[in-house]
Parts: sequence; structure tokens; C-alpha cells
Amino acid sequence: MRGKQANKQAMKQGSELAGLESQPIETSDEASLVSKGCFSTSVRPVRVAGLGAYVPEKVLTNADLEQMVDTTDEWIVTRTGIRERRIAAENEAASDLSLAAARRALEKAGVSPSSLDMIIVATVTGDMPFPATASIVQHALGAERAGAFDLSAGCTGFIYALAVGSSMVGVGVCDTVLVVGVDVLSKITNWKDRSTCVLFGDGAGAAVLKPGGEHSRFLAFDLGSDGGGADLLKIPAGGSRKPITVEAVQAGEQYIQMCGSEVFKFAVRIIVQATQSVLAKCGLKTTDIDAFVAHQANIRIIESAVARLGLPPEKVVVNVDRYGNTSSASIPIALEEAEREGKIRPGDLVVVVGFGAGLSWGAAALYW
Ligand code: COA
Repeated sequence: MRGKQANKQAMKQGSELAGLESQPIETSDEASLVSKGCFSTSVRPVRVAGLGAYVPEKVLTNADLEQMVDTTDEWIVTRTGIRERRIAAENEAASDLSLAAARRALEKAGVSPSSLDMIIVATVTGDMPFPATASIVQHALGAERAGAFDLSAGCTGFIYALAVGSSMVGVGVCDTVLVVGVDVLSKITNWKDRSTCVLFGDGAGAAVLKPGGEHSRFLAFDLGSDGGGADLLKIPAGGSRKPITVEAVQAGEQYIQMCGSEVFKFAVRIIVQATQSVLAKCGLKTTDIDAFVAHQANIRIIESAVARLGLPPEKVVVNVDRYGNTSSASIPIALEEAEREGKIRPGDLVVVVGFGAGLSWGAAALYW
């Protein structure tokens, strides 16, 4: 009872502060307050109600790359497991890829754009530095009720966006949230640098989040960052530290720069650590996992981590061979594919783990 009164009081004070005429609250019912977007006094379960994915049509094979830089199919396959990747058309931007994935996710979830309360786009390659790509997606979808913002956490972005979106639904601030992971890394890749250009691809994945139930819900997140590794994976120019200049462009500083071997070691260590940590938070073990989806950066990273976790290969989702590293999009693309192929079924314990620039990392455990 005291919680409801406090809620009412908070709403009243909020509207007074905003200079609005104080409106009497018509109901004292908690559920009704939550349906209006107020904080609940309790947390409700949240589930993934639908997934969608989109990759551009153009396929760039290792044989194509042999014509562009001093590399071989054999080197790329043995060092990374990547055979081909998708590349966006010249006129395709992050919002275009997002829109295609979002429409598929909404259709799968049976949700209309007008029911969306929030759109979160995780990306490091938005259409422009601002406005947010999420706002462009919101308008194109016709999601007239939805708020929208972008989130930047490198290749971990989708996991962070899931954590934020599911928390918003969990506490009742939103009922329906669209989370998109999208990156068009081909546009920030130095196509003359063989040590990075063979690794990346373009794509988008989307998830609709809604209130869940006992057998279909997020269980826990484990999110982390080590900014001490900020220089290991970055684009030096184009921000407030070093605005774009002719000199910066001539030095190729508008492109991705990476210390591959350091990122490799970090990735293996952090996949193991984040997986163990997220499972410990919900009192589960690696043997309880039904499906495991790690960020698709390199097959050797996934295999090393999975071996340390003692996970059997049939529980591990892999598609890096066909898409390369699609950054924020890699986990939702892999999830969508795995669900479509029946590798993830309702009620399964699914663990997803991302890592990337920041350095950043994040894991989620959920009942599908
Ligand atoms: N083709 C042929 N040779 C290449 C090459 C290419 N595309 N790229 C690099 N090489 C060469 C290097 O120049 C080096 O030659 P050198 O020994 O004469 O100096 C040699 O191959 C070995 O390079 P090395 O960096 O030791 O290879 P590696 O086994 O560490 O693999 C990566 C390199 C990039 C594949 C690996 O470090 C990696 O995947 N790191 C993680 C990257 C990542 O996932 N980043 C994103 C995280 S979100």
C-alpha cells in the first residue's frame, strides 16, 4: 500500500516539476500504473518474443580477397574459419539493414510497430554521428509511440542493449522494446590492410522483448569493461580526440586499427569468465546449457573458449564461416539462424556472450 502511495506521489511531483497541470491519477491499481509506463514495485519476467536478421546480398569470398590484398584462402580459413562475408551496397546504411531485420522480428513476434515503446540500436557504424540511427529506424517503421536511442559498446553492443531493454520491460517502464544489433564494418575497414580486412562483414539482427513467464525469460546478465584496452581496437580519427583532417585521412586513421593477437587472448579468457560468471549468478552449471552463442569473430577463439568450458560442439552455434565478424549483429544473426534450424527450442537454457572494443564484454543467460 505504501509503495502505491509513493508511486502516486512521485507521479504528482514529476508532473509538477515538469510544469504540467497536476492531473489526478485515476487509478490506484499497480498494474494499471505500470501499463502507463511507471516503475513497478516488483520486477516481472522478460522474454525474447521474436527474432529477425538481415544480411546484404553481396557475397565477398576469400578468393575475392586474394585479388585485393596479399592473402590466401588457406591463411584466412586456418587462422579465422571465415570463408565468405556479406558486404552492404554503396547506398545501404545501418538503418536500412536494421529496418529489414526489425520488420522480420516484429512479424515473428506478432507485434505491430505502433505497439513499440522503445527502440535501441546497438552499433558503431550508425548512419551518421547523429541523429541516432534508432530514430531513423523508428520513423521508417512507423513506430510513432516509441522512444529511440543508440548504444555503443563495440561488438558487445547487442548484449548491453538486451540488458537495458529487458530491464526497462522488467521494471514496467516499457511493455515492448525492439533491440537491434547492426554494423556495416565494410565502410570503416581499410581494404588495403590484410590483417583486418579479411575478418569483417555486414549485417543486422533484431529482437522484440516483451513480458515473459516462468519458462521463457532472462535469468541474468554479466557486463564488464576494461578501458585499459581501449587502444587495442579502435578508429583513431573522427571523434572529439582527433577530428577528421586531410592528414588523418591520408594516414588511414578513419579506419579500424587492431592488435589482433592481444584481442584474441582477451576474447578467449573473457568468454570463459563471463559464461562462468553469468551461470553462477543464477545457480546453474555449464552442463545445464542447451545452446551456446558466442560473438562470431574467429572460429579459433570460439573453439578455445568452448574447450575450456567443456561444452560439446553440438551445443555451440557457429556461422562465422559464412558472415565473418559482423560486430553487434553477430549474436542476433546466429540466434535467429539457430532458432530457425531447431537448434534452440522453447524452454532451452541459452547463454550468449559478446566481447569487443572497449574493451567490453557481456553475457546473458535466458530460458528461451
Ligand atoms: N593473409 C596472410 N597473412 C597475414 C594476413 C592475411 N590476411 N594477416 C596477417 N598476416 C600475417 C602477418 O603479417 C604475420 O606475418 P609475420 O609473421 O611475417 O609478421 C602472420 O600472418 C601471423 O600473424 P599473427 O597476427 O600472428 O596471426 P594470428 O594467428 O594471431 O591471427 C588474427 C591473426 C587477426 C586472425 C587473430 O589474431 C585474431 O583473430 N585476433 C582477434 C581479432 C578479433 O576477433 N577482433 C575483433 C574482436 S570483436
